[in-house]
Amino acid sequence: MEKQKRNQPEIGILGCGWLGMALGEALVKQGKIVRGSTRHEQRFAAIKERGISPYRVHCEEDHFEGIIPFLSGLDQLVIALPPGLRHTPTRRFDHLIQNLIPYIKAAMIDHVIFISSTSVYGAQEGSIDENTLPQPVSASGQQLLACEKAFSRHSFSSLQILRLGGLIGPNRHPIFTLAQKTRIKNPQGKINYIHQSDAVGILLACIQAPQFSGIFNGVCPYHPQRSTYFKQMAQLAGLVCPPMAEEQATVREISAEKVMSTFDYQFIVENLLTLN
Ligand SMILES: NC(=O)c1ccc[n+]([C@@H]2O[C@H](COP(=O)([O-])OP(=O)(O)OC[C@H]3O[C@@H](n4cnc5c(N)ncnc54)[C@H](OP(=O)(O)O)[C@@H]3O)[C@@H](O)[C@H]2O)c1
Repeated sequence: MEKQKRNQPEIGILGCGWLGMALGEALVKQGKIVRGSTRHEQRFAAIKERGISPYRVHCEEDHFEGIIPFLSGLDQLVIALPPGLRHTPTRRFDHLIQNLIPYIKAAMIDHVIFISSTSVYGAQEGSIDENTLPQPVSASGQQLLACEKAFSRHSFSSLQILRLGGLIGPNRHPIFTLAQKTRIKNPQGKINYIHQSDAVGILLACIQAPQFSGIFNGVCPYHPQRSTYFKQMAQLAGLVCPPMAEEQATVREISAEKVMSTFDYQFIVENLLTLN
């Protein structure tokens, strides 16, 4: 069956949350037609306000509510669903994604962007790029890797997998949760974060250039030592910095060279000393 062609391609964001909403807003500003999903109708007004069409979608491992109308007629799909294992440790996000893929195929969406995480690299040290063999340690990292593999087993004309580092930005910075902890772990390690503006910037670049399929790391090329960074951030936030844990360092830097060279992308927020 031929998909009906429109002048303007329509982009869907499955998971119009903290990152998805910022992406949707940026796409609308570029004049794009955007759908965004949420599980809660109470969020419709906020989504609509940003010019995004809201859809109620709820995905569970073996149960998908509202997915068919959401996907129907889309040209590009961004999957911005978190694995959610912190809240629900028994959840099988990998099974959910495996069961979601047939719906995407049935909707004949040819350009898919799956947001994964640098947790797939596990606890490896040194310089890490997309050629580094993933060795996830956490259940979340293991399941995300299984999701990446599930997507790769299917043919899409474009499949982009974006492995994001720790996300910071408006109303989100680990210093607020770390300040309640007794020790900062791995103080001699390095930070591998990305600001929301750059996560959105890279996603816009991916949407714009479907000809570049593949796996991309999304991590800011700014890697100060964790101890230095958290001391500076605590000062900026007016918080007391917790003491540093005494433990052997795991030092690693995740490279974003590939994303920068493929999309000619320049990071917007180069210095991550910000609470906004
Ligand atoms: N946080 C990090 O440091 C980090 C690091 C690397 C990668 N990532 C990735 O970044 C992406 C965006 O994360 P975020 O921080 O924007 O997440 P978020 O604010 O929690 O938003 C998640 C969105 O997904 C929807 N959602 C969650 N569970 C769902 C389910 N079972 N069925 C249908 N929809 C569901 C939520 O619906 P409601 O609107 O109803 O809540 C919400 O719209 C995710 O793919 C995450 O894995 C995050």
